[in-house]
Amino acid sequence: MDLAWLFPWLLFLHVLGAIVAFGPAFAFSIVGTMGGAEPQHANFATRVSHAMTTKRVLPIGFTLPITGLAIIAVRGINPFERPFWWLALAIVLYLVAYGYGFFVQRKLVERAIDLTSTPPPAGASGPPPELMALVGRIQRGGIGMGLLIVTIVFLMVVKPQI
Ligand code: HEM
Repeated sequence: MDLAWLFPWLLFLHVLGAIVAFGPAFAFSIVGTMGGAEPQHANFATRVSHAMTTKRVLPIGFTLPITGLAIIAVRGINPFERPFWWLALAIVLYLVAYGYGFFVQRKLVERAIDLTSTPPPAGASGPPPELMALVGRIQRGGIGMGLLIVTIVFLMVVKPQI
C-alpha cells in the first residue's frame, strides 16, 4: 500500500513537535538567570523549568523519533545510504541530547530544587557550594543540548550533501 500521501501530515506533526518541545527550552536560561538574581524565587524558577521539561520537552520530544521514523517509512528512505548521512548523524545527536536531558540534566535540576527548598541556615553567607557547582553543570549541559538541537535542525532542514 502506498502511504506516501501521509508525508506532509507526518512532517507537519514532526515540525510542530519540534517547535512545541524544544522552543521553550531556549528560554530556560532567562528563567534561570532571573531565579539566580532573586534567590528567594530560585526554587520557584527552577521548578518552572523542571515542569516545562517534564510536561513538554521530554514527552513531546519523544514523539520526534516516532514521526521521524514514520516519515522514513512512508518515503522509503534508507538512512544508511550516503545521501542520508545527515539523517543518521541527526538521529545519533538526538539520542545523545535526549539521553542527557532525561538521565542527567533532569536529575541535576531535581537536586537543585531539593537544595533550594529549605531556607538557608541562620548565618549562611551565600548559597551552598554544592548548589553553585550544580548550577554551573546545569548551565553547561543546557548550552550543550541547545547546540545539539540547533545542529539537528540544521541537518534536517539543509540536508547537506557532501
Ligand atoms: C530520531 C529522531 C528523528 C528522526 C528519525 C527524524 C527524521 C526526519 C525525516 C526523515 C525528515 C524528512 C526529511 C525530508 O524528506 O524532507 C525530517 C524532517 C525534519 N526534522 Fe526530523 N527527525 C528526528 C528528530 C528531529 C528533531 C529532534 C528535530 C528538531 C529539533 C527535527 C526537526 C526536523 C525538521 C525541522 C524537519 C523539516 C525539514 C524540511 O522540511 O525541510 N527532527 N526529520
